[in-house]
Amino acid sequence: MYIKNISLSDFRNIQRADVELKNGINIFYGANANGKTNFLESIYICSTGRSHRTKNDKELISFNYDEAHIRVFIQNENVTQRIDAHIRRNDKKGIAVNGIPLKKSSELFGTLYTVIFSPEDLQLIKDSPSQRRRFIDIELCQLSKVYCYNLQQYMKVLKQRNNLLKEIQKNNSLKETLFVWDSQLAQYGRNIIKNRKKFVEELSYKASVRHGQITSNKEELSVLYNPSTDEDSFEEKLFSFLNRDILSGSTSIGPHRDDISFYVNGNDVKIYGSQGQQRTAAVCAKLAEIDIIKESSGVNPVLLLDDVLSQLDKTRQHMLMDCINNVQTIITCTGIEDSVKSYAGDASVFNVKNGVIKREV
Ligand SMILES: Nc1ncnc2c1ncn2[C@@H]1O[C@H](COP(=O)(O)OP(=O)(O)O)[C@@H](O)[C@H]1O
Ligand SMILES: [Mg+2]
Repeated sequence: MYIKNISLSDFRNIQRADVELKNGINIFYGANANGKTNFLESIYICSTGRSHRTKNDKELISFNYDEAHIRVFIQNENVTQRIDAHIRRNDKKGIAVNGIPLKKSSELFGTLYTVIFSPEDLQLIKDSPSQRRRFIDIELCQLSKVYCYNLQQYMKVLKQRNNLLKEIQKNNSLKETLFVWDSQLAQYGRNIIKNRKKFVEELSYKASVRHGQITSNKEELSVLYNPSTDEDSFEEKLFSFLNRDILSGSTSIGPHRDDISFYVNGNDVKIYGSQGQQRTAAVCAKLAEIDIIKESSGVNPVLLLDDVLSQLDKTRQHMLMDCINNVQTIITCTGIEDSVKSYAGDASVFNVKNGVIKREV
């Protein structure tokens, strides 16, 4: 799968852009704050239905304008598909595939597969558990509409349960109504736990293969799933922690408290790993993400590398670039002269300045 063309209007600082992309490496370079990440963000929105850096869609619209538009043409073997996103200041955003509007933007998952890698992702190991859950969820949502549905329903029910817990603090008789939410929460939660367990096993296997390649098999990586509760006892535990939950007005167990941990040679990298080891583990997790999409969907995802090459040493840079055979890659960097030079050979090169994207090669 690759993106053939993308056009933008009034998106962040990019007033107009119409860019033909190559099914290979595409390099966008320019000084800071000129619109490189904005450009990648627009692609990410066409993949997941939302931005990777804001929940507030209005931020995406150019200052002083009311609407932003993104149009992407994707090619997958002989089939071309068109995605249109309209982001409006006074209304909800609208997304259409081949001209047919989607009811919910989450229906978009699976149309354009992407893997995004930005400097913040190198912090994955040290980051908060919520970032690691997000990492798993975005990948699973791209691969399974059922997972995406369960996750959305789970979050909705969780919010309702938490509201009710706060109400119970004031009116204890409402306790009776809680079991309705608990059984729903457990039903969606069990499905999430089951899928995450399977996914992390796959992730651990694929990331350890990549890790072996990077470290010449000197170190062994494994990834473990730390569920807040196992699937079978979830509902029971909701009941046993009820008084505690009422006191705090929040649900203390469930997939919203899950985490994953990374081990190198049996030691937790978050605690014992050097910065280099933590970064290597994060790179391997990203590479495994590409491998899993390829295998599960049969489609090559589009790789978005946002200013990340300059953050890696030569070995990791080469490793990353060697792994991306047959994957359309969109790279942003501040200067073409540094780390990307060796890959620029047969790449398309674009300059980004003040929101204007100009093709050079
Ligand atoms: N809604 C918006 N309208 C106009 N400009 C914006 C908007 N949002 C962000 N910007 C501008 O975009 C620039 C940052 O772009 P970004 O793509 O993050 O830069 P970089 O090239 O460093 O990746 C900043 O100058 C910021 O002011
Ligand atoms: Mg940037």
